[in-house]
Amino acid sequence: MGNRNMQPWWHVYWKSLFCCVLIAILLVLSYLVLSDDTSELVFDNVLTEEKIFPVIENQSASLRGHGGESSLDQNAPANKELERCNPSKALLKVFMYDLPPEFHFVLLGWNSDGKSVWPNLRTKIPSYPGALNLQHSVDYWLTLDLLSSRFPDRSGPCNAVRVEDSREADVVFVPFFSSLSSNRLSKIKPHETQSANELLQQKLVKFLVAQEEWKRSDGRDHIILAHHPNSMLDARMHLSQCMLILSDFGRYSPLVANVDKDIIAPYKHLIKTFVNDSSSFNDRPTLLYFQGGIDRKGGGKIRRELYDLLKDEKDVHFSFGSLRENGTNEASQGMHSSKFCLNIVGDTPSSNRLFDAIASHCVPVIISDDIELPYEDVLDYSEFCIFVRSSDAIKKGFLMELIRSVRREDWTQMWKRLKEVEGYYEYQYPSKKDDAVQMIWQAVARKVPAIQLKVHRSRRFSEFGEHR
Ligand SMILES: *[C@@H]1O[C@H](CO)[C@@H](O)[C@H](O)[C@H]1NC(C)=O
Ligand SMILES: *[C@@H]1O[C@H](CO)[C@@H](O)[C@H](O)[C@H]1NC(C)=O
Repeated sequence: MGNRNMQPWWHVYWKSLFCCVLIAILLVLSYLVLSDDTSELVFDNVLTEEKIFPVIENQSASLRGHGGESSLDQNAPANKELERCNPSKALLKVFMYDLPPEFHFVLLGWNSDGKSVWPNLRTKIPSYPGALNLQHSVDYWLTLDLLSSRFPDRSGPCNAVRVEDSREADVVFVPFFSSLSSNRLSKIKPHETQSANELLQQKLVKFLVAQEEWKRSDGRDHIILAHHPNSMLDARMHLSQCMLILSDFGRYSPLVANVDKDIIAPYKHLIKTFVNDSSSFNDRPTLLYFQGGIDRKGGGKIRRELYDLLKDEKDVHFSFGSLRENGTNEASQGMHSSKFCLNIVGDTPSSNRLFDAIASHCVPVIISDDIELPYEDVLDYSEFCIFVRSSDAIKKGFLMELIRSVRREDWTQMWKRLKEVEGYYEYQYPSKKDDAVQMIWQAVARKVPAIQLKVHRSRRFSEFGEHR
């Protein structure tokens, strides 16, 4: 108690009060620091630039990597959930025209009620019709990805983000679902002279050439969707300077479409992905599998010749009939139990069969001299496909000898590689890292410098300020 004289009672009072306040402050601070820490951690996991937007060279290196080094590590669940789209770091800034709904979601049966141009993806995602239509549905998946690219809770990496100001954009996206329009609206009604598909194309061209964005680049930075080989048949001549997203160049003049300026996108595969495939060489009883139409125009005549050559081979399945006729289940079964799957040129150089084979991990044997393949600038198809020239394939005995000579180890290597790359061909919403949607955006991004070169050159002699 003697201390009391030296330190008055109020001193003790203030001291303990001070302590309490100090402790409280410390508690608050530590809470802040700790929670800050966790958000830092999340932030780190989420926004590390390399994780979300792998530098293109890195990516192509890992794409090339034979074996384990695939950038498609679907089996690593670790940070996937945490990844978020960071718009300011996107690889590609995309301006999308708000085309009237008749050009896109109305074709899917969506009813806009005149209220908005786009469906509210938060409430309901309009579904894409019909199995066979689906092969050419790239338009739909890319558009969904753009529409959701600025959702704050958007998961997964975003290579492309939508920007409102077209001057900020690297490319201009034209959301006309032309494959569906071609599939559904090509019939000319009795009392009309033009199909609705033709009318939409005319309207589109008229709209485009009137836009500021078009005038600035003469359309060179515009992305046009034309995956179905017959889509945009009427408009394509007017859009030849644009970047086209196609399945192949079979029905195009090289002046309108070519591999330098355009993008080849995969078909959406129709048969089931072989999930948990642990089959080995010997588990797949059929050596070579083909199912498809036999009598095809043009280059497709080779199908008949091949049939005659192969029909008596004992471990070869060669049958005719489209997936529509015999169901996708049976084809899935067939491809999942075959070592090699034939892809023979048909009416066009490409078909969804290649992508069905990839999803089945059935090593594709490609007989199509003019085929072009998605992302071939970063992907070496010889690691998981066998290419045979048409002129060789029709030599008696050539094909079977080649296929029978593939050793079990080599086949297994290709099968493993197929399992690594299959994700690159998967269309889905929401899109995931390195799936078809993201791979296409990356392919577009790789073409941006070439587009800019053309645009800048075209401005050399333009009147001062005219195109700015
Ligand atoms: C694949 O394997 C995983 C893990 O073993 C399992 O959870 C899943 O159900 C399997 N899927 C199919 C389609 O067999
Ligand atoms: C359909 O499947 C059956 C049963 O496997 C088969 O016998 C038939 O040849 C197939 N039809 C066509 C058109 O491929």
